[in-house]
Amino acid sequence: MSSPAEAGATAPAQPTDAPLPGDVVLTGDRPTGPLHLGHYAGSLSTRVALQGRCVQTLLIADLQALTDASNRAASGGPAYVATQVEEVALDYLAAGIDPALTTIAVQSRLPALAELTVLYLNLVTVARLERNPTVKAEIELRGFARDIPAGFLCYPVSQAADITGFRATLVPVGDDQLPMIEQTNEIVRRVNRLAEAPIVPECRALLSATPRLPGVDGRKASKSLGNAVPINATADEIRQLVRAMYTDPGHLRASDPGCVEGNVVFAYLDAFDPDAAAVAELKRRYRHGGLGDAVLKRRLVDLLEQVVAPIRERRAALAGDRSFLRDVLRDGTERADDVTRGVLRTVRQAFALSV
Ligand code: TRP
Repeated sequence: MSSPAEAGATAPAQPTDAPLPGDVVLTGDRPTGPLHLGHYAGSLSTRVALQGRCVQTLLIADLQALTDASNRAASGGPAYVATQVEEVALDYLAAGIDPALTTIAVQSRLPALAELTVLYLNLVTVARLERNPTVKAEIELRGFARDIPAGFLCYPVSQAADITGFRATLVPVGDDQLPMIEQTNEIVRRVNRLAEAPIVPECRALLSATPRLPGVDGRKASKSLGNAVPINATADEIRQLVRAMYTDPGHLRASDPGCVEGNVVFAYLDAFDPDAAAVAELKRRYRHGGLGDAVLKRRLVDLLEQVVAPIRERRAALAGDRSFLRDVLRDGTERADDVTRGVLRTVRQAFALSV
């Protein structure tokens, strides 16, 4: 397996909340399609950097993906989700996750997490779930109105089960996940009060320097909008996506002054260009006038190709060996099963259930 340093490419991973000795790291992704550069800049490169420094588990959250299964545009439906479990594992390995240092596990094969979810549902109110800002935004986005699937409304509880099921203390995520961390910690405090002992730890989010990378059109990057740059994009796809990037509609001639804020090309340069001084100078010239979009976009195409090419090549090399991939998932899931069953035993006791 490749070394983390090699895999880190040029994407800067600058966690805003440094890991402490003894931190246990858990994070997850819904298998609803190829991971994109937003995942990479927002959390995947941080996970690669944390390997070997902390105990770390990555959870492929296929059950959580099913909470969205009624929305085919968002999740692709159950059969599609099933095909994406191995694909996400491939994305992890291609991005530099080393299964000898990081446990990769499949959520639906960890029954302890489902049982923890059922127990935790007794510790939250529907009103609190409806107030969760991420859930609220998603309800609007999906147009559920009053027909909210119960599983969907409750997925933050399942996420609390994921996090506590591993006794995680540090969760590398994008900033849209901050409400989940807050809600998890509320559940943690209630469980501990019930147990009259600190049986599960509170956790903190670990945000990268780029907690949110926009899609090429400036909207939230999403699979259904087709506006994200996949982490294994071909050189052609990179060129096409960068060409389509939203810049400043008022910047018609190179000599016009341009706007940097909300300009997607600069958002990607900020995230991926290791030469911050050069980017600052480009911003100055762009604002002043005299710097064309084409020059900027050429720089970005080269830069993204440097980030993506090693990932794409590793992915292609690994994609042929399905039995290796299945072994990785089986071994990781077995280890995770032990850990989560141990936590479930203690939580069951807190609820006065026999063990
Ligand atoms: N909600 C996360 C997402 O949509 C995925 C996820 C599932 C997760 N379980 C988790 C993230 C536990 C952090 C911790 O991307």
